[in-house]
Amino acid sequence: MNLLNLIKNLVTYDADREFYAKVFPDSVSIVDLVRLRKMHKDDLPHVLKIEAKNYQYPWSENVFKDCFIATTYSNWVCEDETENIIGYAVLSVGAGEAHVINISIDPEVQGLGIGHKMMTHLIEISGKKAETMFLEVRPSNQGAINLYNKLGFNEVGLRKGYYPAENGQREDAVILALELVSLF
Ligand SMILES: CC(C)(COP(=O)(O)OP(=O)(O)OC[C@H]1O[C@@H](n2cnc3c(N)ncnc32)[C@H](O)[C@@H]1OP(=O)(O)O)[C@@H](O)C(=O)NCCC(=O)NCCS
Repeated sequence: MNLLNLIKNLVTYDADREFYAKVFPDSVSIVDLVRLRKMHKDDLPHVLKIEAKNYQYPWSENVFKDCFIATTYSNWVCEDETENIIGYAVLSVGAGEAHVINISIDPEVQGLGIGHKMMTHLIEISGKKAETMFLEVRPSNQGAINLYNKLGFNEVGLRKGYYPAENGQREDAVILALELVSLF
């Protein structure tokens, strides 16, 4: 019965938001209307388009396909109210550790709070299974670093020459960590 009420509330909540979005479009932000769901293989053409827009050295289709094979991985997309994919994330959880392997929001809708919402979702689902969440980020990616700092991540190390860079050079990765045990 409780489960039934929970489902009813969720459905009503979504229906309400859609109603307000249609009738009073200024009263509902895009972040409220975004939905997260598991990625399917047939989402990959949309995911790859965003990947190519966001990264100078994008993942290939095969790298994404491998993420469906690895049993510790869960792959997520976020959709706007018209079911357009506007972001995605790849998470690995195992041996008490969660790793955000990729998170990427369509440049058209960056800076609106969607990355924060996706990260919050990843933290919530990891918090039940892992003690610490880790991720790597380029030191030059200040926007992403700001997002992670805002969520409570701290710098715990450096991976020398981790990322490809221009002219055959390599760029270091900053390793950030978030203690999940203190949050849940
Ligand atoms: C990094 C990324 C995932 C952030 O997602 P987003 O939806 O644009 O970020 P949000 O709107 O949720 O921002 C949340 C916070 O992050 C920080 N932030 C995000 N983008 C920023 C930018 N361009 N400059 C400065 N701070 C930024 C801010 O602190 C922001 O909070 P505020 O709006 O209250 O100031 C997104 O910009 C992206 O996909 N970038 C390209 C791919 C990438 O670099 N992925 C991360 C690899 S480690």
